[in-house]
Amino acid sequence: MNNKWLSLNINTKKDNLEIVSSYFDLYTIGSHIEDSSMTMYFLFNDKDKVEDILSNIKSNYNIEYDWGSVESQNWMNNWKVFFQPVNIKDKVIIVPDWDTNDYSQEYMIKICPAMAFGTGHHASTQLVIEQMLNFNIGNYDTLLDLGAGSGILSILAKKMGVDTITPIDIDPVCEDNFYQNCKLSNINKIDFIISDVHKYNNYNHDVILANIDKKNIINILDKYQKSDSRALLILAGLLESDLDDVKSCLKECNIDNVLQQDEWISLAIKKYDK
Ligand SMILES: C[S@@+](CC[C@H](N)C(=O)[O-])C[C@H]1O[C@@H](n2cnc3c(N)ncnc32)[C@H](O)[C@@H]1O
Repeated sequence: MNNKWLSLNINTKKDNLEIVSSYFDLYTIGSHIEDSSMTMYFLFNDKDKVEDILSNIKSNYNIEYDWGSVESQNWMNNWKVFFQPVNIKDKVIIVPDWDTNDYSQEYMIKICPAMAFGTGHHASTQLVIEQMLNFNIGNYDTLLDLGAGSGILSILAKKMGVDTITPIDIDPVCEDNFYQNCKLSNINKIDFIISDVHKYNNYNHDVILANIDKKNIINILDKYQKSDSRALLILAGLLESDLDDVKSCLKECNIDNVLQQDEWISLAIKKYDK
């Protein structure tokens, strides 16, 4: 077994760092930023895919980069130093499993930062959480979490009072991490479904969350509009520049609320009244 991780150091304009890092979301297992430099960590197997992304974006963002490797043990220690708790609206706090501090926020989610996406640091996750708080989703009974990753949105939904949660992700590494995070956050096991969201057609839930990517979101939106579902649909993983494309797909529903953080947006969508 290879007990080393690849490290990729990227230099670009400070304002570009967040958007550049988002291109690697699918593969990175951790990152930290200092001034205009960012270090991301990857599995050795993913090097070709990461190189492809780099060659597509490096001239657009004037990127200079170099590769290295670190012992996975050292990487874990680095990660611990750089993992700051994520506080959302003073209501939700996401902390790593080694953090034993007391926090005053109403909802604490404890996670083991691992291979699955979702530590709460990404703007798209934070925007969904803000929508969940705004819409008081604890008042609903059932929730579908499309692209659940590490499961922090499902875990929060459960803590807020939603009875039945269905988390789905295509990536099998998410499953164990999800169960681990449920345990750390003191909630009973929720069944996790490993599946492509395209193959999941039951939209008969009260709330649907989809923090995924534009292509999947357009597909989800299409299926939602064709279904009988009256769910509150909360979308994220979209950039501000995607808004017009999403709007042009809307037929049976309208946008109830738009939230934005940096260039990321989240949309809350509802069906028209019958
Ligand atoms: C941006 S992450 C969101 C994770 C978590 N829900 C959060 O908000 O932090 C998107 C997730 O969607 C999953 N995903 C991507 N394409 C998918 C597909 N076609 N079907 C199911 N899951 C998919 C990825 O594996 C990833 O875990």
